[in-house]
Amino acid sequence: MNRTLLTLTFCAAVVTGCSKKSSAPAAEPAAPATPVEPAPVEAEAPAPPPPPAAKQATATLAPTKKSKVTGTISFKEVEGGVEVTAAVENLTPGDHAYHVHEKGDCSAPDASSAGGHFNPGGHKHGAPDSEDRHEGDFGNLTAGKDGKATKTFVMKGITLGDQPTSIAGKGFIVHEKADDFKTQPTGNAGGRVACGVIELTP
Ligand code: CU
Ligand code: ZN
Repeated sequence: MNRTLLTLTFCAAVVTGCSKKSSAPAAEPAAPATPVEPAPVEAEAPAPPPPPAAKQATATLAPTKKSKVTGTISFKEVEGGVEVTAAVENLTPGDHAYHVHEKGDCSAPDASSAGGHFNPGGHKHGAPDSEDRHEGDFGNLTAGKDGKATKTFVMKGITLGDQPTSIAGKGFIVHEKADDFKTQPTGNAGGRVACGVIELTP
C-alpha cells in the first residue's frame, strides 16, 4: 500500500468518523410509565363462622353393689336428638333396660339415689320409638354370651344444652332385666346393675 492511499484512507476515515452520526437508532424515549393501578385487593369475604362444635358427653358406668357391670355411654348432640353409643361389659347374656334417670347421683349402693326415669315431659313409660315415653327411655341393650353389649342409635327429643330436655348432669342406669315397655313407671326392669353421671365434655 503506497503512502498516498494510506493517507486518503485515513482522512476518509476521519471525515466519515467526524461527520457520521451514530447509526444506532436513538433509543425510543421510554413511554411515560403509566402508573399501574394496584389491582384492587379483593376484599376477602369473611369466612362464615365455623358451626359450633357438637356438644358431647360421656357417662362412665360403675357397678352397683353385687354387680360387676361396667361400661361407657357416649353422647353427641345431632339434629333432632342425641346420638348414643353404648359399650357395656360383664352383663348376663340377653336384654337389659337402660335409661336416663332424673338425678346425677350414683352414691347409693343400689343406685336408687339416681331417682326415677328422666321425664321432663310428664309422659308414661314406654319404648324409645313410641309416642308416649319418658325422655330417658332408651330401651334395651342386648348382651352376647361374652356379656358385652354395644349399640349406637339416635335418641330423639333430648339435648345436651340448657333446655329442660337436656340430659347433661343426669344419671344413667343399666338394669338387671329387660324393659317390657309397659309396666309403669319402670318397665319392670329389675335392679340397677350400673350407674354413671352424664358429664359434658369440656
Ligand atoms: Cu332405669
Ligand atoms: Zn321410663
